Amino acid sequence: MKNLRGILVLLALLVSVNIVAKPKIRIIATGGTIAGVSQSSTSSSYSAGQVGIQTLIDAVPQMLYLADVSGEQLVNIGSQDMNNEVWLKLAKRINQLLNEEGYDGVVVTHGTDTMEETAYFLNLTVKSDKPVILAGSMRPSTAISADGPANLYNAVAAAVSPAVRGLGVLCCMNNQLLDAKTVIKTHTIDCDTFEGGPSGIIGYIYNGEAHILQTPNNAHTLKSEFDITNVEKLPNVGIVYGYANASPLPMQAFVDAKFDGIVLAGVGDGNFYKDVFDVAVKAQQKGIQIVRSSRCPTGPTCLNSEVDDAKYHFVASLELNPQKARVLLMLALTKTHDWNQIQELFKKY
Ligand code: DGL
Repeated sequence: MKNLRGILVLLALLVSVNIVAKPKIRIIATGGTIAGVSQSSTSSSYSAGQVGIQTLIDAVPQMLYLADVSGEQLVNIGSQDMNNEVWLKLAKRINQLLNEEGYDGVVVTHGTDTMEETAYFLNLTVKSDKPVILAGSMRPSTAISADGPANLYNAVAAAVSPAVRGLGVLCCMNNQLLDAKTVIKTHTIDCDTFEGGPSGIIGYIYNGEAHILQTPNNAHTLKSEFDITNVEKLPNVGIVYGYANASPLPMQAFVDAKFDGIVLAGVGDGNFYKDVFDVAVKAQQKGIQIVRSSRCPTGPTCLNSEVDDAKYHFVASLELNPQKARVLLMLALTKTHDWNQIQELFKKY
C-alpha cells in the first residue's frame, strides 16, 4: 500500500510540473445558455450564444489542473437553431481531432434544448472510443450561481477519466453523466432538467472524478455502421405531433414536399388519429418511410402493437423518442430504404 501511495504521489508531482503530459482535451463551443448573457445577474431574461469559447475557458482555470485544455468556436447559436449542417461539421471535426490531431477527448458546449439530439447524432457518427462529452447550462454565464462553469469543469473531468472511455457520447449536467440514447431534457427551467429515462443515469462526477454506474447496451461510435465522412447533406425527415382530432395537414405537407421520412410523435404506443393514419399509409406507399414514435416522455413504441406495422411497412421507434427517432431515420436512409432493414437498425441503435 505504501508503494502504491508513493507511486501516486510521484505521478501527481510529475503531472503538476508537467513532466508527465496531461491529457489533451479540445472544447468545441456551439453556443447555448452556457454562453448566454442576461440583462443582470438576477434576471432570468437572457440571450444564448453571446460569449466566446475563450471566455468560457478563462472562467474555469481549475480545468487546467485536469488537462491541457484548448478551445475552438464552431458556431455560437441557441440550440433551438441547431441543424443538420452543423451536426455534420461537428461530427467531422470531432473525428479529425480524435483520429488525426492526437486529442485525448472532446468536450462540446451546447444549448440544452436540443443537446439530446446532438448527443445521439454524435453517438452514431463519431469514429473513436475516446470520450466525447456535451455540457451546457440552465442559467446564463452572467447569472448568480451560474451552473455552466461547474458543468464545464465536470465535463473535462469526465473526459480525462479512463472509466469513461468506450461508453459512447455522454452529456454532463448537474454532476450527472447521461447516455446519448437515453438522455432527455424533462423540465423547461430546472437545473436538474436532464434525466436518463427508465434506465437512469450512466454515472456521476464527484470531487472531479467520474463514477460509472452502468454501461450503455446499444451500438455506438466504433460499433456504428454510419459513416458521414462523405455525407454533405442528410435526408429530409420531419416530425408530426399526434393529438385528439389531429389534422392530417402537417403530414400531408411533408408528403407534398417529398420528404424522405416522417416520424410520428403519436399518442400512447405510437397511435395516429384516423385522418393522419390514412395519409401515413399513402406516404409509405410512395416510398416515404414512416416511423411510429410517441409523445409519451418514457416507454417504448412497440412493434405491431395496435398498429399492424408488418402490413403497412411502418417502423416502430422502440426506445427512441421522436426527436432521436428522426436522427436515426436520417442516418438509416443514407444506407437503405428497406423498412425491414430500418427496423433492424432501430433494434440495434
Ligand atoms: N436557447 C436555449 C438553447 O440554446 C437555451 C437553453 C439552454 O442552453 O440551456 O438550447
